[in-house]
Amino acid sequence: MKLWAGRFSKDVDTRVNDFNSSISFDHRMYREDITGSIAHATMLGHCGIIDPSESEKIIAGLKGILEDLEDGTLQINYEAEDIHMFVEEELTKRIGDTGKRLHTARSRNDQVALDIRMYCKREIGEIRALVLSLLSAIADKAEENVDTVMSGYTHLQRAQPVTFAHYVLAYAQMFMRDISRLDDTYRRTDVMPLGSGALASTTYPINREMVAELLGFPAVTMNSIDGVSDRDFVIELASDLSMLMMHMSRFAEEIILWCSSEFGFLELDDAFSTGSSIMPQKKNPDVAELVRGKTGRVYGDLQTLLVMMKGLPLAYNKDMQEDKEAIFDAIDNTKIAVEVFTKMFATMTVKAEKLRAAASYGFINATDCADYLVKQGMPFRAAYKIVGGLVAYCIANGKSLETLTLDEYRQFSDVFDDGIFHAIDLDTCVAGRKVTGGPARESVERQIGALRTFLVEQKQK
Ligand code: ARG
Repeated sequence: MKLWAGRFSKDVDTRVNDFNSSISFDHRMYREDITGSIAHATMLGHCGIIDPSESEKIIAGLKGILEDLEDGTLQINYEAEDIHMFVEEELTKRIGDTGKRLHTARSRNDQVALDIRMYCKREIGEIRALVLSLLSAIADKAEENVDTVMSGYTHLQRAQPVTFAHYVLAYAQMFMRDISRLDDTYRRTDVMPLGSGALASTTYPINREMVAELLGFPAVTMNSIDGVSDRDFVIELASDLSMLMMHMSRFAEEIILWCSSEFGFLELDDAFSTGSSIMPQKKNPDVAELVRGKTGRVYGDLQTLLVMMKGLPLAYNKDMQEDKEAIFDAIDNTKIAVEVFTKMFATMTVKAEKLRAAASYGFINATDCADYLVKQGMPFRAAYKIVGGLVAYCIANGKSLETLTLDEYRQFSDVFDDGIFHAIDLDTCVAGRKVTGGPARESVERQIGALRTFLVEQKQK
């Protein structure tokens, strides 16, 4: 018999029951549900809405249920409609009619809004910690590769010299923004909706601030209709996770390319690669590929949530029950993706000599060659044209800017002197880019320093 069966003369159709039920996925909010109910019962007793002795009985009953669920003595009954009904039914089974007082001044609509907020808050904390570990792995890799010169790319064509440290620190910037987005989302999630009731609050003299304080929320929602119908925070979280996955996916794509024999810049640890069932020579970057693949799935979860909400009239509608599977899927997949990506990244070998060798072809110092002429007084456009001619000459004669003789240089402009060879040396090219945000050692050390400070500050939060 349903707890709400009073008004009905028939049992619900069994298939409708299956269709309607959410316990198969919302059971994972049991801790939030019980903790929320304990706070609610405490407040009801404190405000004299139920007898304090009954409040105590309810609290003890709920604590018992939580313990028994945690240690496996109590199994979830998947016949229940949802986790809220399961807990309440179990409570009444244990403490009798007093259990029926728990739902005073509350609706499942504000109850589920509370549970999902609490759940998202906890998960944001865990995801944050995982991203911080990834950032610290990046800081370590960067420190080891401050002098690892490589080519940077635009259009996937060799462009200008950078270092491997500078390259991976670009990703650190993205992941730091991800942390800051998660913090923003957390602030808006951290608002307590209980007391909104079904949609119009309640006539009981409840104390919402007390419940908020007991549960560690700094504020309560300010409109009961919004309190039960807002899922912005779920969408924001899915959006944050989509962005985080997008960053990892771009990184994964580069790792996949760089592990290929064509690039050969990296080698993954055996524990983070897989073999082929037919080709004995293969070592595949499956982890990186799956990170890239799962990114699409998390985008799908975000899309599910956005579409689910777009046509809903106020206030609660059952459509909103669909929020859970989507956000749980996004959370689960992002968490494991960050975790394995971090380990794969931390254990990979960077082939410094390969990176430098690839940087030596492709005229990535052509800009520096032009800048050299500019420093001798030539306008940039004129210098640009001369170097264009030099590059064409090199290509036609199988040479590079490094292997040209001074005589050859001087055929293009008599401004060239001996200094050109130093100017186009890749280490010089990198060392000269010491502006804030550049790849030179001092600039990269500043980046690493800022990242380390960020990590210390964030871990204290
Ligand atoms: N299982 C429901 C959900 O996840 C709980 C709220 C049900 N409320 C209702 N009025 N049927 O959204």
